[in-house]
Amino acid sequence: MNTKHEIIICLGSSCFSRGNRDTLKVIEKYIKDNNLKDRVHFRGKLCSEKCSLGPVIFIDQKIHEAVRADTVVELLDELFAT
Ligand code: FES
Repeated sequence: MNTKHEIIICLGSSCFSRGNRDTLKVIEKYIKDNNLKDRVHFRGKLCSEKCSLGPVIFIDQKIHEAVRADTVVELLDELFAT
């Protein structure tokens, strides 16, 4: 696959303090450990105005709600399975 995936993590204070602080580290480690730097754009953004659904991340423009550091790997495995 040549197209890069895009992962955006909300780093607004609500999402950050409620879990994205750890999820950020998990995603960074996952990309590094699996040598995926060339397959993904990973960046953070400020509050996405979805605080009540948070912590949120966006994968290829699809929102994922109530993301947890201990389950985000499942999303990543699914994304990079192909
Ligand atoms: S802080 Fe993430 S949606 Fe507001």
